[in-house]
Amino acid sequence: PVVPVILAGGSGTRLWPVSRDSLPKQFQALIGDHTLYQDTLRRVSDRTLFAPPIVLTHEDFRFFARRQASDLGMDVTVALEPTRRDSGPALLAAAMIAQRLAGESCLVLALAADHIVLDEQLFVDACRTAAIAASDGRIVTFGITPTEPSTAYGYIRPGSETGQADARVVDAFVEKPDQKTATGYLADGYLWNSGNFLFPAGLLIEEAERFEPEIVASVREAVELAVEDLGFIRLDARAFASSPAKSIDYAVMERTSRAAVVEGRFRWSDIGSWDALRGVSESDASGNVTHGPVTLLDSHNTFVHSDGPLVAAVGLDDVSVVATEDAVLVMPAHRSQDVKALVAKLKSDG
Ligand code: GDD
Ligand code: MG
Repeated sequence: PVVPVILAGGSGTRLWPVSRDSLPKQFQALIGDHTLYQDTLRRVSDRTLFAPPIVLTHEDFRFFARRQASDLGMDVTVALEPTRRDSGPALLAAAMIAQRLAGESCLVLALAADHIVLDEQLFVDACRTAAIAASDGRIVTFGITPTEPSTAYGYIRPGSETGQADARVVDAFVEKPDQKTATGYLADGYLWNSGNFLFPAGLLIEEAERFEPEIVASVREAVELAVEDLGFIRLDARAFASSPAKSIDYAVMERTSRAAVVEGRFRWSDIGSWDALRGVSESDASGNVTHGPVTLLDSHNTFVHSDGPLVAAVGLDDVSVVATEDAVLVMPAHRSQDVKALVAKLKSDG
């Protein structure tokens, strides 16, 4: 079986005021009726291919993680990190827990909890292809055709065929290059790393052990000493905190020679900003995108998201408005990357 592991511990400040430290974007419904986390669970609900998921999240979000799954009628294993150590330790802990639940030789599908995938069937097809390559001893990434030289992503240089299905060997993996380098990569046919991976649990642990023995030792101890409490698996706090903090991209993907890439033909977004959310939403004839109770007059290419209050606007062009019960954000649409700095200012202003 393929065991889905959902990493739901991130914070996501660029989607303020909807995404907050107390309730980050993955647990919110940004498009449609379900939260991003619920959409992620639904994407792996085909039990002929996927085992019941394991969710890794921070202590503070444990009830959201369980409740939003049970609202879908899904049973998930929720493991809790006492401290944030980035995606490397979280994913390694999940791989070890998966081995306990599904056997040493199980395959793991690591999923970010905060991405939008519009073509679910194409996604599942890509997973089937990836599972074949993974069974043959590969850590499989899903490559996305890049549209701009973004510095927010990992870049993958596809090499020769692996011989399995449509998977190609990864010749190079570079996490978050600078813009000049990224521009060159676009011209050279690199792909974006979607941030989802499919691999044999034992292989990821083995590779991490080679490059980051300290992380693996701490995480192994944290899993061995974990206690079960009200159905949550609590990793041992002292052992987990002693792990270096590193993302899986830097810890393993940039260094391993066992990576392969399957092209993701599904439409994908990691909705790193309001503008990215607009990009995957349906627009009206004037290019406006609205979510929630919104009325626009004579407005064009405008994005309005409301979590409650009625928003009415006239004569707006290329503006984004996000309204919640206690905060409203207004900005030119192209400034959506600056929300992070705005949130920092709000925090320093108290
Ligand atoms: N449980 C847990 N604990 N999850 C975490 C933690 C943690 O400490 N830190 C991050 N995550 C989760 C996030 O919630 C997200 O689902 C996933 O791990 C990736 O972390 P991000 O912090 O969002 O990474 P990124 O966006 O900078 O980069 C990654 O994703 C890109 C695509 O969106 C990399 O894999 C890039 O190579 C990739 O292009
Ligand atoms: Mg991300």
